[in-house]
Amino acid sequence: MPTDTTAVAPQSLTALPQWKALESHFEQSRSVHLREMFKSDAKRAQTLSVEGPSGMFLDYSKQRVTAQTMQLLLALAEARGLRARIDAMFRGEKINVTEERAVLHVALRAPRDAHILVDGVDVVPGVHEVLDRMGAFADAIRSGAWKGHTGKRIRTVINIGIGGSDLGPAMAYDALCAYTTREISFRFVSNVDATDFAEKTRDCDPAQTLFIVCSKTFTTLETMTNANTAREWLLKGLGADSAAVAKHFVAVSTNAKKVSAFGIDTANMFGFWDWVGGRYSMDSAIGLSTMIAVGPTGFQEMLSGFHEMDEHFRITPFAKNLPVIMALVGIWNSNFFGSQTLAVLPYDQYLDRFSSYLQQLEMESNGKHVALDGSRVTWETCPSVWGQPGTNGQHAFYQMIHQGTRLVPCDFIAFCEPLNPIGIHQDLLMANVLAQAEALAFGKTLQEVEAEGSPAWLAPHRQFDGNRPSTMIMAPRLTPAALGRLIALYEHKVFVQGTIWGINSFDQWGVELGKVLAQRIIPELSGTAPTPAHDASTQQLIARYRTTRGR
Ligand code: F6P
Repeated sequence: MPTDTTAVAPQSLTALPQWKALESHFEQSRSVHLREMFKSDAKRAQTLSVEGPSGMFLDYSKQRVTAQTMQLLLALAEARGLRARIDAMFRGEKINVTEERAVLHVALRAPRDAHILVDGVDVVPGVHEVLDRMGAFADAIRSGAWKGHTGKRIRTVINIGIGGSDLGPAMAYDALCAYTTREISFRFVSNVDATDFAEKTRDCDPAQTLFIVCSKTFTTLETMTNANTAREWLLKGLGADSAAVAKHFVAVSTNAKKVSAFGIDTANMFGFWDWVGGRYSMDSAIGLSTMIAVGPTGFQEMLSGFHEMDEHFRITPFAKNLPVIMALVGIWNSNFFGSQTLAVLPYDQYLDRFSSYLQQLEMESNGKHVALDGSRVTWETCPSVWGQPGTNGQHAFYQMIHQGTRLVPCDFIAFCEPLNPIGIHQDLLMANVLAQAEALAFGKTLQEVEAEGSPAWLAPHRQFDGNRPSTMIMAPRLTPAALGRLIALYEHKVFVQGTIWGINSFDQWGVELGKVLAQRIIPELSGTAPTPAHDASTQQLIARYRTTRGR
């Protein structure tokens, strides 16, 4: 087994004196209400807030922590060797031990003059070489210099990919929509359900459509199926031979062989590297659609934002380090308060797909029950992550967050300046996010409800316990750089939590079994394969499908 010199013995987590200290602190402080915490400490809001790069402000004073809680959590982070782990990641050590790979998404946004070595080779020049090629290609598409097979310019860009090869680009396109060219329409096809492809292409002119096939491995069932369907659709639509593919398909992958085998000229391929995890790849060539949408300059601004947060994470003392603080607060909620979930609630419609993106980032990274040494962890790891933009969610699921029986910690994300300054919308939006965090924290007592004149029988229904924790991330404005900072914030938060839990945040073995079984079932559904041998339930369902389809 490959060794990782910075990994701390994972079994030791709950036996650590720092963990024990947190347990007794939890017992003493668990029932203290946020109302009392604010009352007893006039400086609480300031003490438990921190300003990060370019005005990104993190107010975690509405979390159920005190300065002492944070000190104890920080001591735990030190005991888990966080400093050494961060340094190892930035140095390009192979900390993804189960895949024997370095973890260097930070190199994707390193400046041109930086040097980061993997196996003795500086990876930064290669990163910039690809960025330059992407820039030239994006400019050619944006200006219309790149022509399709019939000589027309490209009007629709369709990204075909799934997981990290889809969620990042799709999220970034929405998030940065205000900065995108409106001359080209952008679409994202991911699902193997043909509906996805059919609906996204139904009004497209093949002569003006460019497909970007994004797949790190270039073997993923969904992506390869959709890419083949796209090629057939294109050739049928253009009544052309396979030479047309060169003008309408480009590939983003680490696998040049498979790209050629598919029929895409590797001159039209943009590469990346095995040290970029799929869910950490939206700022690699996987972001080609983003770059075409916002232009090379906009993309570069986004990378600068990422890099700014990387540097903040790398050098800022942990007590003032945004990703570290967010991670520690999350550990407190998950491992001590026992919360099973995290709601991420951006008050910005452009971040419509942000929580879907985070689901993969957090849950594929830290949804693990095996520690780095192969032992089974005896503590909870990743919570389920979900959410949608406010104020929509307020009229759907917030009821449960306010008055349900479970503790649902929330991350609120808000930007002060609107990108669409119309009337008083922004003030209303901001009033709502502030009100929600306040209501969750402080609630409304029975006495307050009764004092408002509610009859005694109704008052319990109208009472709010409060004491429901949330963090507010407030930034000046949603820009490409702000998006980069925000994503890097969560990437590093995930890494810190993985370090404390003693797991590998960079593999994803848990997705393999389903893939293998699907491959086995595919021929069985056609009815030509031998009688399937599955459990009785699966067998019954296969038989039902075959009958329904007349097989
Ligand atoms: O199935 C999970 C996964 O491997 C993700 O980790 C990855 O982002 C996604 O599939 C797509 O993989 P690829 O980019 O290789 O097609």
